[in-house]
Amino acid sequence: MAPTPNVIPRAFVAGWPVAHSLSPILHGHWLKRYRIDGSYEAVPVEPGRIAEFLAGLADSGYCGGNITIPHKEAAFAVAARLTPAATAIGAVNTVWLESGILRGDNTDAYGFSANLDAQAPQWRNRTGRSLILGAGGAARAIVFALRQTGFDDIVIVNRTRERAGTLAEEFGAPCRVADWDNAAALLRDADLLVNTTSLGMTGQPLLSLALDDAPAHLVVADIVYMPLETDLLVDARARGLTAVDGLGMLLHQAVPGFERWFKKKPVVDETLRAVMLEAAAKRHKDHRG
Ligand code: ATR
Repeated sequence: MAPTPNVIPRAFVAGWPVAHSLSPILHGHWLKRYRIDGSYEAVPVEPGRIAEFLAGLADSGYCGGNITIPHKEAAFAVAARLTPAATAIGAVNTVWLESGILRGDNTDAYGFSANLDAQAPQWRNRTGRSLILGAGGAARAIVFALRQTGFDDIVIVNRTRERAGTLAEEFGAPCRVADWDNAAALLRDADLLVNTTSLGMTGQPLLSLALDDAPAHLVVADIVYMPLETDLLVDARARGLTAVDGLGMLLHQAVPGFERWFKKKPVVDETLRAVMLEAAAKRHKDHRG
């Protein structure tokens, strides 16, 4: 009998545009580190064409990959089997083929929780009130994660209140909406504060939220990682609060995909953080010309 040829696992990130994606650097680092004979490449897929791309996955030799903007909702609609996280969040960022069936997951909630577990493990001991700033795609994943963790009160605050209302309604109790004007006062009894908006990101307006009334045990997480130390985190640290940066979520959300495609659970460590920080800074510089 002829030996089965060794198939080199190939994975991708599909998006539009996709050239700026940091995922090839992240997965490329792990492939090298674990000496895995595999590949991970950026594939530009035009808006409206992700279903076609995913339908041809097996023929193109890919075992799976990441889905990024603007295709996450379309991939959700196309995947034949979804994880509970993807179902609840309504978007897919990770796909893989299993016995020829296209499966979809959303690993952002996992990435958020795993990052807090690494940077502020005490967060699981106080699960009373959490205050979420923003109501976009990232907020959806984080609200799902907080419900799973068992928070008693999940308060969503957003510039466009209606969007926060839709999110709170979809997830149901204990999610509710509050006004920006009340955010500072709500912090008095909060255990966790998460910024999921783009405020504070390089080139974006600053996030203005007074932390004066925050309790000493408050954990403050920002999903912005450019800059790594946002003004919100600097302020939190100056007050002795625990501050968690956004780079970790980006790194941890990549773990389940890599494990599925390449059959090895990768580790998020300081070396990887340094590689990714440098890459992010370079991308930013190139982007600004
Ligand atoms: P993502 O998928 O990364 O969460 P998004 O869906 O575009 O991105 O959501 C961005 C979030 O940042 C939203 O909550 C947005 O508020 P709106 O729903 O009102 O648009 C918030 N955001 C962006 N710019 C903002 C600004 N200048 N002031 C306040 N909120 C802002």
